Amino acid sequence: MTYSIAWLGGDGIGPEVLDAARTVLDAIGFRAEYIPADIGWRYWCEQGNPLPERTVQVLRSTRCAMFGAITSKPASDAARELAPHLRESGRTYASPIVQMRRQFNLYANIRPGRTLLGESKPVDVIVVRENTEGLYAGLEVHPTPQSLVGALDAARRAPHLRECAPEDLALSVRVTTRTGCQRIVARAFELAQSLGRKRVTLVEKANVLRATGGLMTEVARTVAERYPRIEFREAHIDTACMDLVRKPGEFDVIVAENLFGDILSDLVAGLTGGPGIAPSANIGDHYAVFEPVHGSAPDIAGRGVANPCAAVLSAAMMLEWLGERALAARLQAAVATVLARGEVRTPDLGGSDSTKRMATAIIAAAR
Ligand code: NAI
Ligand code: MG
Repeated sequence: MTYSIAWLGGDGIGPEVLDAARTVLDAIGFRAEYIPADIGWRYWCEQGNPLPERTVQVLRSTRCAMFGAITSKPASDAARELAPHLRESGRTYASPIVQMRRQFNLYANIRPGRTLLGESKPVDVIVVRENTEGLYAGLEVHPTPQSLVGALDAARRAPHLRECAPEDLALSVRVTTRTGCQRIVARAFELAQSLGRKRVTLVEKANVLRATGGLMTEVARTVAERYPRIEFREAHIDTACMDLVRKPGEFDVIVAENLFGDILSDLVAGLTGGPGIAPSANIGDHYAVFEPVHGSAPDIAGRGVANPCAAVLSAAMMLEWLGERALAARLQAAVATVLARGEVRTPDLGGSDSTKRMATAIIAAAR
């Protein structure tokens, strides 16, 4: 079967690491039709949307997508860099990754982190992060009218809010739905089951975030009952961060809402060799986008020294999702071998090798 795959390089090192991933995919004999599509800062500046509609059409016509990285900047920069003829159109910048996650309902962000560089404390954790709700749902207000403060009854708990001028008060609302909780927790347990993992830990803060954290906890406990062979644990976000550093072996699969999951997965990436080797998948019921966790790394872009391992491991996650398990395992093993040997290392890992050299080493190890 030939797969049709959207290929979104994006900004900075995005295209560099995807090129490397592509040479590795070709070399191990994976055959696909790759359809390049535009995404990133340039398309915001020139056309007013970093995810042009034609790219959405490419995504709709393909099985899944590989995505490199994009650059995004604060609202004031976005407004300043927008082409003059688009400035009156009332457009505001919306992250293309967030747009993709919403439009394709890619509700599960899966980020595995495993020690591959011989760190002293072994880590083997998969963070399953809710990808569409939580504090990143985009339900934000600024300026905030006093009528809203009154409606939320916020002034009763925090009387000083009553004196806030609208300009001086901003709200970002955490959105938690029962459906959203059910599907992300179920996804975490299904993943644990399919990989033979032993434990799922819900990371929350339900003692303080009583409404949203409370709902997530209630749902997670119910879903957990359907999986009696997998141990279910609960941890608070703050304690979990400390414990991940001190005793990472306690964690196996972690499930968390959007912001907590974002923070936890970067923490895990930090424990396991940094952004250059951390892969991820954004998975929905009908589509998936695979991407390295890192951004466009403007500090090293264009120099050919970005570490391609995160992109290659993301490609391996794609192969797994497509059902090409043997090829996926071969890629993962090849990256693990190269990193463990340590003969070839990009600068982020303390070496001086290039992106291409690393890709060549991975290909050699995969043979
Ligand atoms: P970043 O991940 O781009 O870079 C952080 C640090 O890690 C930098 O020192 C960079 O050189 C290094 N690094 C990242 N990937 C690497 C690789 N493959 N090999 C070697 N070193 C690597 O995050 P930063 O600097 O916070 O953001 C830069 C831009 O990327 C911003 O515009 C940000 O909005 C965007 N960004 C995009 C993401 C995405 O496309 N998914 C995710 C995170 C940030
Ligand atoms: Mg992040």
